Amino acid sequence: MIPKIFVTRRIPEAGLSMLMKQCRATIWPDDLPPSREDMLENVPGIQGLLCLLTDPVDAQIIAAAGSNLRVISTYAVGFDNIDVDFASKRQIPVGNTPGVLTETTADLAFALIMAAARRIVEGARFARAGRWLTWSPTLLLGQDVYGATLGIVGMGRIGCAVARRAAGFGMKVIYTDRAQSQNLGAPGAERVTTDELFSRSDFLSLHAPLTDETANMVNRRTLGLMKPTAVLINTARGGMVDHDALYEALKNGELGCAGLDVTDPEPLPSGHCLYDLSNCLIVPHLGSASVQTRDRMATIAARNLLAGLAGERLPHCVNPQIYG
Ligand code: GLV
Ligand code: GLV
Repeated sequence: MIPKIFVTRRIPEAGLSMLMKQCRATIWPDDLPPSREDMLENVPGIQGLLCLLTDPVDAQIIAAAGSNLRVISTYAVGFDNIDVDFASKRQIPVGNTPGVLTETTADLAFALIMAAARRIVEGARFARAGRWLTWSPTLLLGQDVYGATLGIVGMGRIGCAVARRAAGFGMKVIYTDRAQSQNLGAPGAERVTTDELFSRSDFLSLHAPLTDETANMVNRRTLGLMKPTAVLINTARGGMVDHDALYEALKNGELGCAGLDVTDPEPLPSGHCLYDLSNCLIVPHLGSASVQTRDRMATIAARNLLAGLAGERLPHCVNPQIYG
């Protein structure tokens, strides 16, 4: 019997074509995510769900799919939108797309470091507005990236890839990580305490998953430890940052600037006060957004889904404990 699946958005053809060959797929046709009601309407009776990071796949949705659901595959490395514990209780494997987006996301983190430090977007706006009247000794001065101290929260795949880039800029790298094991991915990087990380960093870049532990870890207290010239970069998840506290710190000159690829809420609604700050650079969750990487993610998400449907072990499974 041909398995029935629900795909919550049109993913790149590389993955979609793999699915179309083997499944009876309903593909959500809109650019905007399906609502909860749309999800509840489309999941009953499916064997496979391919979702995006914008789709909350909680207990209600998983239960609504019914007992035939054999696999959940997300088109992302992060999976905080999925109730993995609930899926595990039902022996449903959850797949993600690690590895292939590591370098692409690290590139974006570094692009934000450079752009925020050197005021690239402000400068481009300034020039385009016809305000470039002369070379000036003090126009749009930023912060040096080379030789500065980069603090990394989470020295996993992406954190290490950012640290490797930092080495090319002669940066001193310090980090925190939940894992107790010796970090091998970023030679020369120094492990420090969380408070030290906040107080010593010229640039602080977040690369941990969103968990109870990391939620709101950038808050009024930790922002208060930071240098007034420091730059905060977030390409991880918006929920790691208290955005009210961030706004206050940026506005009052307690923090130099921020480069955000992710926000809370996400998307950040138009008219949000953070958009009014010239020292806050916001881009719309583009970490993995290269043609090549999105194709690779689509292929992996499709492979995970097809493996799950076939009762095989997922190539990239976030809850392998279900295999016993
Ligand atoms: C992007 O944020 C991802 O988790 O893949
Ligand atoms: C800048 O363009 C310089 O020549 O110093």
